[in-house]
Amino acid sequence: MAAEVLTRKLRLLAAISVSVFAMVGAAVMAQETGSGPEIEAGTDTGQPVFIMPRSGPFAPQSIAIPNARVIARWAESGHSDATAEAFRHWDADGAIEPVCSVCHSSVGFRSFYGLDGSAPGVPESPVPIGGVVDCETCHNPNIGTIAEVSLPSGVMHPVAGVEAACVTCHSGRASGADVSKATTDLPEDEVSGDLRFINPHYFLGASISLGGYGQVGYQYPGKTYSGRFLHAKPVATCLSCHDPHNLKIDETTCLTCHTNGNPEEIRISRFSFDGSGDATKGIHDDIVANADLLMKTIKEYAANVLGTPLAYDGTRYPYFFADANGDGVIDEAEGRPVAYNAWTPRLLKATFNWKAVAADPGAFAHNPPYVLELLYDSIEDLSGPLGVDMASRGLLR
Ligand code: HEC
Ligand code: HEC
Ligand code: HEC
Ligand code: HEC
Ligand code: HEC
Repeated sequence: MAAEVLTRKLRLLAAISVSVFAMVGAAVMAQETGSGPEIEAGTDTGQPVFIMPRSGPFAPQSIAIPNARVIARWAESGHSDATAEAFRHWDADGAIEPVCSVCHSSVGFRSFYGLDGSAPGVPESPVPIGGVVDCETCHNPNIGTIAEVSLPSGVMHPVAGVEAACVTCHSGRASGADVSKATTDLPEDEVSGDLRFINPHYFLGASISLGGYGQVGYQYPGKTYSGRFLHAKPVATCLSCHDPHNLKIDETTCLTCHTNGNPEEIRISRFSFDGSGDATKGIHDDIVANADLLMKTIKEYAANVLGTPLAYDGTRYPYFFADANGDGVIDEAEGRPVAYNAWTPRLLKATFNWKAVAADPGAFAHNPPYVLELLYDSIEDLSGPLGVDMASRGLLR
């Protein structure tokens, strides 16, 4: 076991060395063309500098190479976590499915945009396992050639610089358009054996921030939706708030405009959205309260309108399971959980929106108006057949 961990660390270290080599090359090129980040003193000879410690521990901070400070920050982030499910999911298959590799391996990402010299498009063959989001993902000298990113809704979104990378990988994989397509012409409350849960995928902050313009959520007909959340100048891109290497939020950035630096406690709106009347807590809490109410309403609709109770388990795909006797325990058949099997169009729309909001832990900062609208409309849509007067809930859209 210890040996396996050590081997993995050594492999990661080797990956970093290769990446730094690529990075130095990329930065030198970027400097020559006058764009891109400046590299630190000592690396402008064009020679890769590797000073490897003779023995462990292999803490990134202890590796005396010019980019050590940046590497140490990157090593704190999920982007470098070679043990994460997001990078190990394909281990048993021995290679990453091409369509998945675009976001789950830098090799796939570069291939998709032709940054590696290949023809642009989804890689033609499976990509080797073991990749992370390496330095060259963002520091590729040709990153600036990516002019637009195709969102799951089909909308082509113009991008500039490194944000092209963030938006590509953080937009999710399905949108309201997929939900509309699956449910066209089907009666709202009739169970259809053809329907299955549609998963928007994970960490889709870029799509959420683009709101009604990016159209990631299921947007109910006849309703209008807030567009891109522009926040306030100079907050403009992902990097206005996220450090590009450790990905963390620096509270002092927020404090230049907000009176509270804790993102979850920040609030501008003077109105209460969740019916609590409390407009002092962070907008984060209104969103969590309405998301919880939506989940409760989803379960009530399944049990009372469809007569087939549903249970949710966020740790197991496909998340929504059968619970025939309504005791809150997921049904099992042959030792395996039974996926929920009484989908109606109305249920699919609401669960998709609930999951899209839940899949972006930063939704409250990325686009609070849009997610509040999606949650409100989903609750309202389920309330009709449940016979609950929406006004009695006291929510604000
Ligand atoms: C090649 C795809 C890819 C690119 C490009 C990418 N990310 Fe990620 N990002 C991921 C994956 C995959 C994860 C999840 C990693 C994990 O679970 O360890 C992630 C995780 C994150 C997280 C969660 C925090 C953490 O430490 O895990 C944040 C925040 C984030 N990315 C922001 C960004 C920003 C900002 C950019 C652009 C500067 C960006 N990402 C570019 C794929 C990417
Ligand atoms: C548009 C980019 C994108 C594509 C394409 C993509 N993913 Fe992901 N996926 C992500 C991001 C970002 C995360 C990180 C979220 C996290 O770690 O929770 C993620 C997370 C995951 C996870 C980990 C979930 C968890 O609970 O930690 C699995 C499994 C996964 N994806 C499977 C797939 C499969 C299978 C495919 C191809 C059929 C695929 N992904 C295609 C962006 C993508
Ligand atoms: C997810 C995208 C991303 C990844 C991955 C990434 N960088 Fe960066 N890096 C950036 C961006 C964006 C900037 C510019 C930051 C700015 O202008 O404030 C930057 C700046 C830099 C700088 C100069 C500024 C500084 O903070 O010192 C260096 C050096 C650097 N990166 C090295 C690396 C190395 C080495 C790696 C891999 C260990 C890496 N980067 C991985 C996006 C990334
Ligand atoms: C106004 C500041 C702001 C901007 C701009 C912003 N984010 Fe975030 N983001 C946050 C906050 C706050 C969180 C909540 C988690 C935290 O505090 O780390 C978050 C969370 C995330 C997460 C989940 C991290 C986790 O560990 O759960 C991802 C992924 C992410 N953002 C990606 C992006 C991408 C991609 C962009 C650009 C399209 C972006 N963000 C723009 C503030 C911002
Ligand atoms: C340049 C000033 C500025 C900076 C810096 C800034 N914000 Fe904001 N923020 C605003 C303004 C103005 C609004 C209201 C925008 C609107 O409603 O259109 C806002 C709205 C918000 C909201 C929604 C509040 C509500 O009640 O709807 C959240 C959450 C938020 N900001 C989080 C953050 C976080 C987290 C950071 C730091 C990473 C940050 N902001 C940095 C100016 C700023």
